[in-house]
Amino acid sequence: MRLDRFLVECGIGSRKEVKKIISAKEIKVNGSYDISAKDNIDEYSDVIEYNGERLEYKEFRYYIMNKKAGYITATEDTREATVMDLLPEWVIRKDLAPVGRLDKDTEGLLLLTNDGKLNHKLLSPKNHVDKTYYVEIENNISQEDILKLEEGVDIGNYITLPAKVEKISDTKIYLTIKEGKFHQVKKMLEAVNNKVNYLQRTTFAKLSLDGLALGEVKEVNLEDII
Ligand code: URA
Repeated sequence: MRLDRFLVECGIGSRKEVKKIISAKEIKVNGSYDISAKDNIDEYSDVIEYNGERLEYKEFRYYIMNKKAGYITATEDTREATVMDLLPEWVIRKDLAPVGRLDKDTEGLLLLTNDGKLNHKLLSPKNHVDKTYYVEIENNISQEDILKLEEGVDIGNYITLPAKVEKISDTKIYLTIKEGKFHQVKKMLEAVNNKVNYLQRTTFAKLSLDGLALGEVKEVNLEDII
């Protein structure tokens, strides 16, 4: 891979910026500053340093976000702000896409990656990835409603798979589901004559929000996900 491309993919800057950084002798390749942007490097074995720190090449990147309300889950949109607008500068955006979707008014855990295979695997209906939502609802929830939600409810031509409900109070629950149908949680609560007032995803597969502040992003490893 060309050195300038490597540096761009490591998030050092744009192609133009990394050229300047190389000319300014801030990049060392195997101990030498005698290099040019066009040089080919081996991204796995060569030692590339930027201001004394070794740069690590990663083909795939994984980030989690605590999504704020008001952002749509899409990579681009002409009218609305997207979750990509919440990404800080240090995130490598190249080929990055959200895994699944949270509604515009939903907050909480959203995974973004450029690992297309993993994205597909996590969304495949075969794979039954657990997702937990913290849900605030309009009306008091009864034991009967909880049983219905746990057994499966009709959300319009689809009966949901068994789910888990943990009651926090009469109007607050944690709901863990294995599917990701469009507006699933809202429709499930509607199926028991209730209404979601606030929705936040707290876990997805092995990932959890774990104190990540609203709007914040952090990089995670593949082993943290599944
Ligand atoms: N279910 C919903 O209804 N909305 C979401 O954003 C996620 C799950």
